Amino acid sequence: MTQELSTTAPEHLPRQRGDWWRDAVIYQVYVRSFADSDGDGIGDLRGIRERLPHLAGLGVDAVWITPFYASPQADGGYDVADYRAVDPLFGKLSDADDLVREAHRLGLRVIVDIVPNHTSDQHPWFLAALAGGPERAYYHFRPGKGANGELPPNDWESVFGGPAWTRAAVPDGDGGTSQPEAGGEWYLHLFAPEQPDLNWEHPAVSEEFASVLRFWLDLGVDGFRIDVAHGMVKADGMPDIGLREQAKMIGAQVLPFFDQDGVHEIHRSWRRLLDGYEGERIGVAEAWAPTAERLALYVRPDEMHQAFNFQFLRCPWDPDRMREVIDASLAATASVGAPTTWVLSNHDVVRHPTRYGDGPAGLRRARAAALLMLALPGSAYIYQGEELGLPEVTDLPDEVRQDPSFFRAEGQDGFRDGCRVPIPWTRSGSSHGFGSAGSWLPQPDSWGELSVEAQTGVPGSTLELYRAALAVRREHPGLGAGDAVTWLDAPEGVLALARDGFLCTTNTTGTEVELPVPGTVLLSSGAPGFGDGTVRLPADSSTWWAI
Ligand code: NOJ
Repeated sequence: MTQELSTTAPEHLPRQRGDWWRDAVIYQVYVRSFADSDGDGIGDLRGIRERLPHLAGLGVDAVWITPFYASPQADGGYDVADYRAVDPLFGKLSDADDLVREAHRLGLRVIVDIVPNHTSDQHPWFLAALAGGPERAYYHFRPGKGANGELPPNDWESVFGGPAWTRAAVPDGDGGTSQPEAGGEWYLHLFAPEQPDLNWEHPAVSEEFASVLRFWLDLGVDGFRIDVAHGMVKADGMPDIGLREQAKMIGAQVLPFFDQDGVHEIHRSWRRLLDGYEGERIGVAEAWAPTAERLALYVRPDEMHQAFNFQFLRCPWDPDRMREVIDASLAATASVGAPTTWVLSNHDVVRHPTRYGDGPAGLRRARAAALLMLALPGSAYIYQGEELGLPEVTDLPDEVRQDPSFFRAEGQDGFRDGCRVPIPWTRSGSSHGFGSAGSWLPQPDSWGELSVEAQTGVPGSTLELYRAALAVRREHPGLGAGDAVTWLDAPEGVLALARDGFLCTTNTTGTEVELPVPGTVLLSSGAPGFGDGTVRLPADSSTWWAI
């Protein structure tokens, strides 16, 4: 690994203007499910590198790679034991270096994940904390309530279900710990017990993360997706919430452990650090905020560049709700001069063809939603396999599941293995071209026909629809630009969104809708029928027009 090359902006990257990220289309790779180069059934960094031509050919601007750092994998790598090392499951540090260089050679930027809210329970800091070292102050240890401290310090619940606290043993004073029944203090974990929350009030924590960010920036990455960017600061005194099922309130109200105003100071300091590097390196906040206005606070000019718009992701297939969310999102981000960041799927949610209804209608709507999303001003994220129209896998046997929320929140919704099934590259063969020796989660047999191979060059396939949409978006840079849209009058159930010589019509109804031909068709997710000066928009379809 040489550092001289990587600290400067890669010269061959397209859109060298300073604000490449404002309208960038960014492809999310979930490492363990993208491509397996060494036949262990788990995707890896070399696998990603070998498949980069698919992403360049698709026409995206950048790739976001989920955590590949050394980790016991209690939560798919979001439990990091060493932030500067690549987990042997995924390769070596030199593979990360090669991947970044090859991506840059192909004109793709690379964003990596950073997990600052918590470490793994196997991180040297936490092991030292359990043994009673000064690192204890880097986490949130508290005495329990009750006569013998047998109750958690407060009523906070883990996002994955159950209490957000686990009782540790008393350190034995010898650098080890006594038996758990000796009952020590409790430590906070907003996710799994293997993911203890860091105490960001401690200066050693912020210093360490600044150093970790520099490590990856020096290697040449173009930015970070910041995991739980709304969670690092907890309300003073850690007050009780007084309500159960707190996971359902995330993103609906400010909680004493999420979206506290104090997190913005951390984002400001990270922005200063990013701005110290050439080439416009960016920060993308994974922040769950209750309103578009509170989300916009994360993308003020001196904070992060982007924040995922989960209100859009959560919006049902309902034209009025979609329009409301689009308007509210654009207005909120415009008020701080930032772009809106659209996303329909990721590795934590049910894939959108299934959310929108499964079967043919779900897929039709998903394709229409993709064209709607890509017609909006701002940046857009595509989750791996979305370009193939993959549905959620809903019938995984319990014994193959690995999502910690499945084990902790039995009976609740939201298990995430069904959207993480390795993607199909070929019609046949072991794991449909994912790797040479099966895949860590079984793929449905029907996925051969959804593979990259099966869809390539097939007119009307979902893959060719995405390719064409991204090509049109590149030819018409105005498409992702600006911060507002104009809604035109349209029949009931049809959204008609105009911008600068361009129109997107989305028929959200389950039947054909006829209207006067508004322009020349650029692209459609259905097959519009033309009559005497009129066009029939197919059910659940979007069409792009030059007007
Ligand atoms: C958000 C990540 O996307 C998710 O996969 C993870 O479980 C949590 N943060 C905790 O790190």
